[in-house]
Amino acid sequence: MQHEALRVAVLGPGGVGGLLAALLARAGNSVLVLAAETTARAITEHGIEVESSRFGNFLARPDAAVRLEGHVDACLITVKATQLNEALERVPADVVGDALVVPFLNGIDHVDVLRRTFPSENVAAATIRIEVARIEPGLVRHASPFAAVEISTAVARPERVERLASQLRATGLDVRVRDDETAMLWDKLVLLAPIALLTTHERANVGVVRTRRHDDAVAAISEVAATARAEGAAIDTEAVLQIFDSIPDSMESSMQRDQAAGRPLELDAIGGTVVRRAARAGVPVPVTARLVEELRQRK
Ligand SMILES: NC(=O)c1ccc[n+]([C@@H]2O[C@H](COP(=O)([O-])OP(=O)(O)OC[C@H]3O[C@@H](n4cnc5c(N)ncnc54)[C@H](OP(=O)(O)O)[C@@H]3O)[C@@H](O)[C@H]2O)c1
Repeated sequence: MQHEALRVAVLGPGGVGGLLAALLARAGNSVLVLAAETTARAITEHGIEVESSRFGNFLARPDAAVRLEGHVDACLITVKATQLNEALERVPADVVGDALVVPFLNGIDHVDVLRRTFPSENVAAATIRIEVARIEPGLVRHASPFAAVEISTAVARPERVERLASQLRATGLDVRVRDDETAMLWDKLVLLAPIALLTTHERANVGVVRTRRHDDAVAAISEVAATARAEGAAIDTEAVLQIFDSIPDSMESSMQRDQAAGRPLELDAIGGTVVRRAARAGVPVPVTARLVEELRQRK
């Protein structure tokens, strides 16, 4: 069923946020991106240009501002974990009001941060599997064909989640609504964390990691899967290892690219959280802990 158009705010119009904002605006939704002054001005003046093999090349013209001032139906959170606290000042809880808050950050801990900031039942956890980069303010490049979103109804009311899911689906994204939030978040992290940690540690792509660090990769995947299971997510380690073996050699992680560019790493959100959660559950994760610690020292 096609739902009516929504008013959507997007906090952080970078790779993920810029693409989602542009797709939702092109599909007829009223979109407001929230960004720092220079980025907001660039998008007001020039719009968001998308270059995508899947969605085509197009220009979208969402509104842009530095702070949310009026009512929206949904607020998508698309900054990096390292930017979250500062960025949230642009979306005061009293203005966000009863809007659905949907974060697309990698990791898990941000969901609790948002549930402490906004009414808990308005926060719907989500994941996105995509490879998209912000080239400059207002220009995003989406090169690989996959673009899949999952949103959970575990806490937020299903009909509200479905309304947003329907609009996202109408843009051409693959969208799945799930009721198992914990498993949904771990499904993503169980492969992402080992790949991000190892490609960043090795300063090399997945192909090189698979050759040089195969034992560490198997160990890290097994450790993260055991931690996920301790939190109630039914993760099949063998299935994850098979996916790991089938990833193209050339794949790089965004943490690896952030390191190469000298940007802050989402190390705590992606790796630190596994180590903390494992310790809490009494699961030994020596390889993951060593990778996180060595990357922390390197910063
Ligand atoms: N990119 C991917 O392919 C991908 C895939 C799956 C998941 N993710 C996850 O999605 C999240 C976002 O990643 P990304 O790659 O889209 O990051 P990104 O391209 O760096 O975009 C982040 C955006 O947030 C903005 N921002 C930073 N601080 C802000 C603040 N205080 N107020 C408002 N806006 C602020 C940045 O603004 P400026 O433009 O002004 O710098 C930028 O537009 C991360 O957790 C990442 O792990 C990314």
